[in-house]
Amino acid sequence: MRTLIKNGRVVDPSQNLDAKMDLLIEGGVVKMLAAAIDEAADEVFDADGLVIAPGLIDVHTHLREPGLEAKEDIITGTMAAAAGGVTTIACMPNTKPVVDSSILVSGIKDRSSSEGYVNVEVVGAITKGLGGKELAEMGDMAQKGAMAFSDDGSFVSSSRIFTLAAQYISSFDKILISHSIDPELDSDGFMHEGAVSARIGVPGVPAIAEDIAVARDILVAEYTKTHIHIAHVASKGAFELIRQAKKRGVPVTCEVTVHHLTLTDEACAGYDTATRVSPPLRSIEHVEAARIALKDGTVDAIVTDHAPHAPEEKDVEFRYAPCGFCGLETSLGIILTELYHTKLFTINEIIGKMSTEPANIFSLKAGSLKVGMPADITIMDLNKEWVVDSVKFYTRGKLTPFEGRACKGKAVATMVAGKFVMRDGVVCAR
Ligand code: DOR
Ligand code: ZN
Repeated sequence: MRTLIKNGRVVDPSQNLDAKMDLLIEGGVVKMLAAAIDEAADEVFDADGLVIAPGLIDVHTHLREPGLEAKEDIITGTMAAAAGGVTTIACMPNTKPVVDSSILVSGIKDRSSSEGYVNVEVVGAITKGLGGKELAEMGDMAQKGAMAFSDDGSFVSSSRIFTLAAQYISSFDKILISHSIDPELDSDGFMHEGAVSARIGVPGVPAIAEDIAVARDILVAEYTKTHIHIAHVASKGAFELIRQAKKRGVPVTCEVTVHHLTLTDEACAGYDTATRVSPPLRSIEHVEAARIALKDGTVDAIVTDHAPHAPEEKDVEFRYAPCGFCGLETSLGIILTELYHTKLFTINEIIGKMSTEPANIFSLKAGSLKVGMPADITIMDLNKEWVVDSVKFYTRGKLTPFEGRACKGKAVATMVAGKFVMRDGVVCAR
């Protein structure tokens, strides 16, 4: 199968490229990239007026399979990714059972390659059952292709266990992803502590719950020389700690979520459980700090932390609702609306943080349209106007704080390994 994508604006940070070009795809890989290609093809896709980017990569997704399929499964989660223009996702291990053994890593990989719509990387657990007490079989999981290790959803409170984990994985060159929030401080409240929590009468958690945990993780990275990636950073203090650590040469990277870049704790004022998330939505000074950190390179990647829950689980009082909401189908639209059309970030910067840089951090064969790379491609219409309507979502956990939001910019086609998996918002039959 040969596909020729013509007349598009190719934006590829891996090659410092932003130019009108044609792209020939054959055998699932990029075959040719040139100003004008006049080769015969089975299909010619006219991308006039559209941006052709390396496929978006979300290194923080919850697919919920195995065991929690009422929230999501591999099929619905990867369909949501395809719909949102995301071609690779890394799924977190806080499932039932927890992904803490090689058999589970292989199982998810096998099922996603046969049933999934996009590439799925697997993040294995750091500790058995996410219990924080005993190391999981990270060596075995690494052999079966686990991308990284994380107890996401829980902080590995024991500094001894976390340091051991960092020392252990350094021998096979993997990365620890830390959910850096002090659980004792965190258990005192349900949202960010500040003026909004005081006003609406919901107990808050101080931002230092995050800063303290991030400081510990940086010290472990510095001592062990193991690469530690901090998940969903959301506090001003934590961004500053990471900025300083990077300056000292500590092997630390981090990510920020779409919602921590674009929503404040004012969104929680109506007690909408869609806004309950961990770490919590914070005040404007933290959102501004997130944007500054994204700009100056402190932040390496934008992620969704797509964390779907069954509708009935969220249909409770604010404090009883589980944390998290879906993000794969809104991430690009919200980022383009809030960060690109506001002229805060260039399209090159956005694609870098949503594709090329996460691929580089986790050594994925993705994030680039260089000849020979897998043809994972996101075709975007930067000016398409649309409104977030969760009824149209593919994910099972439909609740989103962005419901009804008017957006500008959307993925109009998604290609994985040379095959279209989404066109005009409709996920294609496999
Ligand atoms: O809001 C969140 N939900 N944050 C996390 O870290 C975990 C996630 C989940 O698994 O639901
Ligand atoms: Zn998560």
